[in-house]
Amino acid sequence: MAIAGAQAQSTTNAIAEPRPATVPAHVGIIMDGNGRWANRRGLPRLAGHHAGTENVRRITIACADAGVEVLTIYAFSTENWRRPADEVVGLMRLLLQRIDREAAELHRNNVKIRHVGALEGVQPRLAERVRAAVDLTRSNTGLVLNVAFNYGGRQEIARAVQRLMAQGVRPEDVTEELIDRHLDTAGLPDLDLVIRTGGEMRLSNFLLWQAAYAEYYSTPICWPDFGREELYQAFAEFGRRVRRFGGLS
Ligand code: FPP
Repeated sequence: MAIAGAQAQSTTNAIAEPRPATVPAHVGIIMDGNGRWANRRGLPRLAGHHAGTENVRRITIACADAGVEVLTIYAFSTENWRRPADEVVGLMRLLLQRIDREAAELHRNNVKIRHVGALEGVQPRLAERVRAAVDLTRSNTGLVLNVAFNYGGRQEIARAVQRLMAQGVRPEDVTEELIDRHLDTAGLPDLDLVIRTGGEMRLSNFLLWQAAYAEYYSTPICWPDFGREELYQAFAEFGRRVRRFGGLS
């Protein structure tokens, strides 16, 4: 669903760029290129993740200003555990250091934080802070920031099937709507636009079910350099796409 000329309330101060004419309701971002951004500057990879974390706040606010309803960011995939231990430990430490401050800032901007993925296997202190961020912002009415953390699309579908089986649902009663309601994203609209920074052209296990009819946009810009202007360019490109959802018109 695209909201042409969306008139949603701005949650922040005056904005520099004009609001885009067409705004996707649900945007997903695969935030790739932090490592390359750092390498090009002769910095350690973790410096790229630091810069990437800063950018999450900027882009969340730019999405809220534009009238996006839901922004899902791919913060850490179930496959990212395969990275070298020092990078994984560094990323977890970074999240632990920053999560409370970022959540407080987003709370001031009326952003509602949700988490998709599994908190099992995440260090308990960090899992607790993720739950606290969700709780803090539960009643907010602005943009939903859906954080895919320790997330994999296939695992999410398997979890939904497990939930159905645990409820004793009969095979003949399984419908797309029922599966949808048992995913981590229950209640959220399907994805309209997936943006991938860093130039790759793949979904990498990101919201597989919800992206069935999403438009895809890839840019070579690394995540820390992907700003409001680039975001609104992606929205403009989205506005030029003709979406048929399998039909002819
Ligand atoms: C991909 O870049 C990025 C990640 C695996 C981590 C992304 C996480 C953040 C930006 C922090 C999230 C922050 C919050 C507040 C939720 P890469 O390391 O794969 O880059 P490369 O392809 O250049 O090596």
